[in-house]
Amino acid sequence: MSTQQSDALVFLGATGDLAYKKIFPALQRMVQRRGLHVPVIGVAKAGWGLDQLRERARESLAAHGGLDPQAFEKLSGLLRYVDGDYADPETFQALHRELGSAEHPTHYLAIPPALFGLVVGQLQRSGCNRGARVVLEKPFGRDLASARELNRILLSCFDESSIFRIDHYLGKNAVQNLVFFRFANAFLEPIWNRNFVESVQITMGERFGVRGRGAFYEQAGTIRDVVQNHLLQVLANVAMEPPTGGGDEESIRDEKVKVLKAISPLTPKDVVRGQFRGYRSEAGVSPQSTVETFAAVRLHILSWRWQGVPFAIRAGKCLPVTCTEVLVKLRRPPPVYAGLPPANHFRFRLSPEATIAVGAMIKKPGEELLGEDVELLVSHEATAEEEEAYEQLLADAMMGEPFHFARQDYVEQAWRIVDPVLQAMPPVVEYEPGTWGPREAAALVAPDVWHDPVVQAAARRETP
Ligand code: BG6
Repeated sequence: MSTQQSDALVFLGATGDLAYKKIFPALQRMVQRRGLHVPVIGVAKAGWGLDQLRERARESLAAHGGLDPQAFEKLSGLLRYVDGDYADPETFQALHRELGSAEHPTHYLAIPPALFGLVVGQLQRSGCNRGARVVLEKPFGRDLASARELNRILLSCFDESSIFRIDHYLGKNAVQNLVFFRFANAFLEPIWNRNFVESVQITMGERFGVRGRGAFYEQAGTIRDVVQNHLLQVLANVAMEPPTGGGDEESIRDEKVKVLKAISPLTPKDVVRGQFRGYRSEAGVSPQSTVETFAAVRLHILSWRWQGVPFAIRAGKCLPVTCTEVLVKLRRPPPVYAGLPPANHFRFRLSPEATIAVGAMIKKPGEELLGEDVELLVSHEATAEEEEAYEQLLADAMMGEPFHFARQDYVEQAWRIVDPVLQAMPPVVEYEPGTWGPREAAALVAPDVWHDPVVQAAARRETP
């Protein structure tokens, strides 16, 4: 597949939640900022017509960032709608007719994963896959076996270069910046290894619970929901080798796969699963649920660079703050001055704001040789435009730019790492909402590895 611009965008699941929350707002921004001008065809089974789809788009924009009358008018003019059952071949014949002369449509599967196989098969049988690209959202399977099966189905209808697997963390500027900052500066590389780094930890805290998505969460749990995808992506960005060959997209994706290949599959002893008190009373949740809403994971990367350095990942709902942060702690310097100096660190906050901080020790003003911990810090408040990863991801997919998408081998490697734990499911431990998870998580790693992010009240924008 070339990098030719797509000449139509199809989104299946046009009446669903993802379209409502993310796709319409991204489309309006694409009209505003990128001059989107190709037909945008919604497909769904709702008994709707085009007017209802336009109305839905209007409501979506009003609820998510605001409606720009001029851009909306243009977007309305681009919208088309096909109504029908995904199991009915006629739906896809109708889509084929609607595509008209389009030669490189992008099909966005904004539908439940259980329908991916059916819809991909229909796209192929109707000929809608010819010259086309396909975009899909995580979860890419539920475990290694189902991920392989999904990839088999996708690859029977599309080339890998035409498949765009969205992990929206890859669309976040602060996540991209982990790689950029590492390789655009000379000072980091000499110390970014086992000789200088003592530990690496990644925490993704969310102050809120499952927000009415209990039924979804029952099928997912924290490991499937964010560890296997978002947080292993973050880890790969922190730990990957510099890409060769001028850093083209595929060599960067190759390096990420290599990091994952160097990680042994997790065993139950490497994981603590927690569940916040009250989860079992959420709508859609079984009163006996053993699904985790918190996971702490320790792992090692068996490579020349990282051998022996503990990596720890922690994520959960109903934690004290909403914040995603990476802390790379360096080894302590020897005690030349009175007292043991603290370890230096690099702290990368990925959200709510984007921060890079270097923890250092300076001399306190005064006659005595007393030290003071400080952070040299650059912080970047995300603008509304930057906050929205979907616009970039959609535009990239329509251009055939693969960099910010998960490749097949990467996805399977990530499942390989977590798969044994998903099969064995170590017992789940209850924790109090508003705490950093069960006590057992603390014992998983050395005492000073976990670092609890602190979020200023003003940066807490989420509703619990
Ligand atoms: C989603 C998960 O993929 O990522 C959610 O399904 C989680 O459970 C969300 O809350 C976090 O994304 P962000 O961009 O808000 O950090």
